[in-house]
Amino acid sequence: MRTPIIAGNWKMNNTIKEAIELIDGIKKNELNEEVEAVVCVPFTAIRDVKEAIKGTKIKLGAQNMHWEESGAFTGEVSPLMLNELEVEYCIVGHSERRQYFSETDETVNKKIKSALAHGIKPIVCVGETLTQREANKAEEVVKNQVVKGFEGISVEDINNIVIAYEPIWAIGTGKTASSDDANAMCAFIRETIGELYGNEKDNIRIQYGGSVKPNNIKELMGKSDIDGALVGGASLKADDFVKLINY
Ligand code: PGA
Repeated sequence: MRTPIIAGNWKMNNTIKEAIELIDGIKKNELNEEVEAVVCVPFTAIRDVKEAIKGTKIKLGAQNMHWEESGAFTGEVSPLMLNELEVEYCIVGHSERRQYFSETDETVNKKIKSALAHGIKPIVCVGETLTQREANKAEEVVKNQVVKGFEGISVEDINNIVIAYEPIWAIGTGKTASSDDANAMCAFIRETIGELYGNEKDNIRIQYGGSVKPNNIKELMGKSDIDGALVGGASLKADDFVKLINY
């Protein structure tokens, strides 16, 4: 059985003060113990959020990292720095990073390898644009992202990776993929993992992301190949995020 994983991607939101308020709001509620809950917070808030979630089951994540341990990479944050803050998860290759910060399947691959080498579990994002979907290229695009992203990654590491299928047209737009379409692509991704890693396909967790809200989480999570959600907007409101965890 795959443990469901609901991860909040705060993106470039929340000062330290706001971050603590949000965590305090979440902590006022009972959280479903069977669901793994993660908050992927801005670098500046990691240290304070780490303190704020102590004693809870909420886990700590970052939103990006460089693959090198140190060096002349102005503005970047290394896996060693994340290790020091006991960051357990790191989002890798989010479509916003691919789109605005020129990340490619090659850099995503380096980041996945580095994260794993440093004991950080990558949440690897893949997904197609609306144009690609309309041209019937969605599967081809996503398969390519998975195959290139996972190049050289050994079968022993598969269990430490989470994949997030996020169709770009559904992110922050209020348009969710239908639960059937989302599930079909997650199943297709699982098949692709099967081609690369055999039976590990049944262990890897695959999230859906893109306008996940309290009113659609239950249906999405009821699908056979969707093991969780990567959530932007709705993770910024304590009540909504709690509803997602307690779907
Ligand atoms: P959204 O973002 O939930 O606001 O659509 C999801 C994401 O980008 O991870």
